Amino acid sequence: MPSIDVCFSPDLLPLYNLKGKIAIAVDVLRATSSMVTALAHGITHIAPVRQLDECLAYKEQGYLVAAERDGVKADGFDLGNSPFHYQEESVRGKFLAMTTTNGTQAIQLSRAADEVLVGAFLNLGAVADYVKKANKDVVVVCAGWKGLFNLEDTLFAGALAERLEGHFTLDHDATLAAYHLYQTAKADLLGFLSKSSHVQRLERLHILPDIEFCLQEDVYDLVPVLQGDFLLIAQK
Ligand code: MLT
Repeated sequence: MPSIDVCFSPDLLPLYNLKGKIAIAVDVLRATSSMVTALAHGITHIAPVRQLDECLAYKEQGYLVAAERDGVKADGFDLGNSPFHYQEESVRGKFLAMTTTNGTQAIQLSRAADEVLVGAFLNLGAVADYVKKANKDVVVVCAGWKGLFNLEDTLFAGALAERLEGHFTLDHDATLAAYHLYQTAKADLLGFLSKSSHVQRLERLHILPDIEFCLQEDVYDLVPVLQGDFLLIAQK
């Protein structure tokens, strides 16, 4: 039986061997939730990049460019990191380059894996089905916050572990911790997260609707997969 492991921060990735495995990069609030939403609403592909100037350079090639730093849209970019920005009819059919404080870093740092997927509560079931079918070891790479642990990405890892129970072994300590945390939190994710640092940060920016949206499970039936430099919807 394959296993599911959890890496609580991209800074811990040097301790993990991703070779032969599937990495699932997750930044629930809000980068990977926005990416899943963007692809669901007709963005054709996404270039997830680490630096602001690298992202801006895509504009010359006709891309929409999106950037967030410390929860706020960066100056000079078309879009920020709210999932609601990507539900507008005007984005349909466009391609997107995106850089965020933590999420796009986690995706790029996961490249040693055989495959890099993007996960969020919004596409939890689709990710679970995809990895069950692939039947390979999985590592959930939590984006965290600037190298630190965060609760919301850990809760996603626990939710995925629950969906994979019986198909994957859950016996890594990090997975068990995430699994049990999710059992405690799942009846009221928003309430559980209300004191968490990023929810407080986003509340100060008055974006509670973003948080509520990102904590919904199984809204979209798609899995973004990294192919070369771009995230595309994986074929079923
Ligand atoms: C990130 O990548 O750090 C986040 O998505 C930040 C945010 O937009 O809240």
